[in-house]
Amino acid sequence: MRGYRDGVLHVDGVDLRRIATAFGTPCYVYSRQQLEANWRAYDTAFGTRRHRVHYAVTANDNLSILRILKHLGSGFDIVSGGELERVLAAGASAADVVFSGVGKSRAELVRAVSVGVSCINIESRGELDRIGEVASELRMPVNLALRVNPDVDPKTHPYISTGLKENKFGVPLEEAADLYRIIAAHPLLRAAGIASHIGSQLTDIEPVLDAVSQVVTLAESLRAEGIELEHIDVGGGLGISYQDETPPPIAKLVAAVCERVPARYGVMMEPGRSLIGAAGTLLTTVEYLKQTPVKTFAIVDAAMNDLMRPALYEAWHGVVPLETAADGGALVHCDVVGPVCESGDWLARGRDLPARPGCVLAILDAGAYGFAMTSNYNARPRPPEVLVDGDTFTVIRARESLADLMANERNHLIP
Ligand code: LLP
Repeated sequence: MRGYRDGVLHVDGVDLRRIATAFGTPCYVYSRQQLEANWRAYDTAFGTRRHRVHYAVTANDNLSILRILKHLGSGFDIVSGGELERVLAAGASAADVVFSGVGKSRAELVRAVSVGVSCINIESRGELDRIGEVASELRMPVNLALRVNPDVDPKTHPYISTGLKENKFGVPLEEAADLYRIIAAHPLLRAAGIASHIGSQLTDIEPVLDAVSQVVTLAESLRAEGIELEHIDVGGGLGISYQDETPPPIAKLVAAVCERVPARYGVMMEPGRSLIGAAGTLLTTVEYLKQTPVKTFAIVDAAMNDLMRPALYEAWHGVVPLETAADGGALVHCDVVGPVCESGDWLARGRDLPARPGCVLAILDAGAYGFAMTSNYNARPRPPEVLVDGDTFTVIRARESLADLMANERNHLIP
């Protein structure tokens, strides 16, 4: 958990100045304790109800994070073959994996079926045909769920809403029954469940429940014609409070979902952000305070390549100083921006911060879709990732080197 002690920001038992000194900035820091508490909040909220929590690897795919979740008993929701290999490398079993995603390649499907993932969430007729062929070629049975698109408005940023009919995701509800009949008729395909994921950073429970009700109605009508599904996968999407959002508590969401799903079905969830988002912090050092006739910029050593969410979604992240009152704490009204050659390279706008050159700032709630969306734009090596475990900390990904960045390039001595 994050908080000030004697005027210095700590994550659990660790003074963040120690991490900034040991590894430099920019640097991601995660709290193991917070991640575990969040995962347990989901798991315990289900009580005795048949359920499985699959962590959405897309939010943060660091091997150590995956390993911690595996030890808790988590399953994993993946959206690519690369994520499958990461989950396996972290020591999890393919039987703990659900494979989502709108554009799975043949090679990805072959690998997923060969290792025996527990369920593949199918998103189109074309993909269903392809998985049928793959199962026949490999002569292996495959558990499937259809990801349906319930056409509900999740009331979130348009780039992260997925359950509207104009989105690329899922199968329209009215087409789903036909596809289930195709699955049921195939000798190697098994209709195991039904899935829906309507978007991310959801702060309103109603659209989720609306989607769940529609999915349950479909499952029940399939049952009436002899296609009996075992589970209902309600996706992920629960938001966190970056600024003043008030998402429902995990337990409330789980209880409301369980209430709407008949007991004959197991319930699956695929949370990402609500597990790792608030557990992560990005440390960055102020390089310059630059005053222009219009405003003041705190130019820091992290940039849009290290945390893309503000540039991409105009996302708001809290920014706080590592030390509360280094020199009396006079506040500067400023935009926090990076060194990248784009005006869109900003991390926070219009903040009042005790920013001085050399001081370290913490960008809060950066654990989900932070490191996962980093790039090497402007030939910037990716930052390190550090895990705080109680009073100790350890690096779980080293800072990338410039040699790493150039390693795959060939023929650069072309005359
Ligand atoms: N299940 C599926 C099929 C997904 O596509 C996702 C996220 C999740 C679960 C997990 O959703 P969560 O619980 O984390 O909301 N980059 C954006 C978010 C993209 C979400 C992608 N899919 C952001 O930074 O806000």
